[in-house]
Amino acid sequence: MSSPQISFSFPVLHFLLFIFVTSIVFHLQLRLSKISKLWKQTQSPEPPVSTTSHPDGIWTMNSIGRLGNQMGEYATLYALAKLNGHRAYISPEMHQHLAPIFRITLPVLPASVSQHIHWRNYQLHDWMSEEYRHIHGAYVHFTGYPCSWTFYHHLREEIRHEFTLHDYIQGEAQAYLHKLQKSPATFVGVHVRRGDYVHIMPQVWKGVVAHKGYLDQAMNWFRARYNDTVFVVTSNGMSWCQDNIDTTKGDVVFAGDGVESSPAKDFALLTQCNHTIMTIGTFGIWAAYLVGGETIYLANYTLPDSPFLKVFKPEAVFLPEWIGIPADLSPLLKN
Ligand SMILES: *[C@@H]1O[C@H](CO)[C@@H](O)[C@H](O)[C@H]1NC(C)=O
Ligand SMILES: *[C@@H]1O[C@H](CO)[C@@H](O)[C@H](O)[C@H]1NC(C)=O
Ligand SMILES: *[C@@H]1O[C@H](CO)[C@@H](O)[C@H](O)[C@H]1NC(C)=O
Repeated sequence: MSSPQISFSFPVLHFLLFIFVTSIVFHLQLRLSKISKLWKQTQSPEPPVSTTSHPDGIWTMNSIGRLGNQMGEYATLYALAKLNGHRAYISPEMHQHLAPIFRITLPVLPASVSQHIHWRNYQLHDWMSEEYRHIHGAYVHFTGYPCSWTFYHHLREEIRHEFTLHDYIQGEAQAYLHKLQKSPATFVGVHVRRGDYVHIMPQVWKGVVAHKGYLDQAMNWFRARYNDTVFVVTSNGMSWCQDNIDTTKGDVVFAGDGVESSPAKDFALLTQCNHTIMTIGTFGIWAAYLVGGETIYLANYTLPDSPFLKVFKPEAVFLPEWIGIPADLSPLLKN
């Protein structure tokens, strides 16, 4: 009868989003009021925060979202703190996301310290701006979820170093790739983001996720360029990939485990490949950025009047040398 997959109707999804957002806002307000009460209680006549006694201060950033977002937040904090001559610290939450996978170096600020600091909150949008070169305050707490090379591309090597995989994770990915390799091979990591985005893109953002034609085109581009390509596909919707990716040339491997709660394995596989095909999402963007090979991305995947384009500047997200293939927006126009 009906398919077992959960699909949200338009109003239900909106309602869920509304609940989600209001609960976050409510939760934040509660926390803020607790913090400010605590602050008032502990405040001595002399403010503990002074630029002269701590010239380096403490700069930090919220920890929102899954791996790709956390990486964007980390790299942005790293770059902006450096640019403004302050010391960056990450929250224990961000450490929990990133430290099991990467050899990150920024110190962790314990919550017990953080809650006694009178932060200057500073909202960031998703691209570098001139004003971000002159941010004042010794205790700055950034908010937002930027993922844009415009913040950190001048530090690319340092950022890649921060996101060096732990040896055992890299070793496992290398062993996997080498088992696939009969002779010299050109590995192309393919990341197909599906899951919740299959519904969120059309219903919230007037957009689409990658379609079959995009993947065919992108893979054929590499096939025409190299005669030894091996496509290493990772996805959180592997059954869709198996149904839609052309495997007749014998050069496709469905790899990774697609376990979203433990993304290390998929991410490591992508970063150990030589080139990247991404679809949407920060996971693929980060893999491509770290690989530094040839990259194909899905371009223009929302309608021109999408609210997505207010928070997302494509030219600040995709490197100029990456190759965009436009999405097929016809499913949106039909509805
Ligand atoms: C692959 O291409 C190289 C040159 O680009 C050529 O020398 C080689 O013979 C080709 N190999 C096969 C198996 O076609
Ligand atoms: C391609 O990636 C494999 C696996 O990481 C690596 O062994 C190989 O050296 C890379 N090839 C090139 C040309 O960089
Ligand atoms: C995306 O749309 C913009 C604006 O219409 C256009 O300039 C650009 O070439 C498109 N990108 C691709 C890859 O088609």
